[in-house]
Amino acid sequence: MKRLDGKSAIITGAARGIGRAFAEAYVREGATVAVADIDMERASATAAEIGPQAYAVKIDVSSQDSIDAAVGACVERAGGIDILVNNAAIFDLAPIVEITRKSYQRIFDINVAGTLFTLQAVAKQMIAQGRGGKIINMASQAGRRGEALVGVYCASKAAVISLTQSAGLDLIKHGIRVNGIAPGVVGSEMWDEVDALFAKYENRPLGEKKRLVGEAVPLGRMGTPEDLAGMAVFLASAEADYIVAQTYNVDGGNWMS
Ligand SMILES: NC(=O)c1ccc[n+]([C@@H]2O[C@H](COP(=O)([O-])OP(=O)(O)OC[C@H]3O[C@@H](n4cnc5c(N)ncnc54)[C@H](O)[C@@H]3O)[C@@H](O)[C@H]2O)c1
Repeated sequence: MKRLDGKSAIITGAARGIGRAFAEAYVREGATVAVADIDMERASATAAEIGPQAYAVKIDVSSQDSIDAAVGACVERAGGIDILVNNAAIFDLAPIVEITRKSYQRIFDINVAGTLFTLQAVAKQMIAQGRGGKIINMASQAGRRGEALVGVYCASKAAVISLTQSAGLDLIKHGIRVNGIAPGVVGSEMWDEVDALFAKYENRPLGEKKRLVGEAVPLGRMGTPEDLAGMAVFLASAEADYIVAQTYNVDGGNWMS
């Protein structure tokens, strides 16, 4: 018996990176997985590569209509939803005096409102189904402590940790377990974009910031998307039934709390 046999999962931002690794791990454990992403072309290619238990769904988590349509598509395709991973997010970087309202709004629309309202739509579905469920929100070590240059993203991930606590406490009466994962630094395509931003603002050669943050991890290297998959499977499985409103660090020892 696999750990997620017969379960239906939706993972936002699963076309690439960490979300894709989670989709692969969930399918290995027996789940049917909606690879939900704003980049439908890449989501379709990813789902096809993963195999018949994965299917692509278009979602823009900053749009309520798009969230509702994606949830409806999953219910129609898989008969319901047992697991949601709120993984879609964006990053930006700027000194405090250069932060624009546009960048702030975009980050909060996707990272915070996207997480909350996707969680809400799926929680309503789970309540109607009456069999509980598992919701996992992707936070970050950036949500544990502010960072010069990373003010808005850090604040957005602190908000995700807080929403995980509130939703965890409110939804447990329906048997819905809400928890979070706080990665440290993960060598995904996102970090290549982050590295390019640091190169610009800290006057560094491309690749230097990424190398330095990897070397600074107590474990000695950046994480890979697969390094996070064990926690994602565990939190989605029955083994985690007594865990509510927690956010777990999976970061090679970067953060302790
Ligand atoms: N990479 C890291 O070092 C790191 C560290 C800590 C936390 N995280 C978090 O882990 C999660 C995954 O990170 P990643 O590195 O795989 O990111 P990524 O940028 O590689 O992937 C993000 C995915 O989200 C999709 N997306 C973007 N905006 C969207 C929207 N509005 N609606 C739906 N999908 C959208 C993108 O198309 C992409 O496929 C994010 O929540 C991120 O903040 C990453």
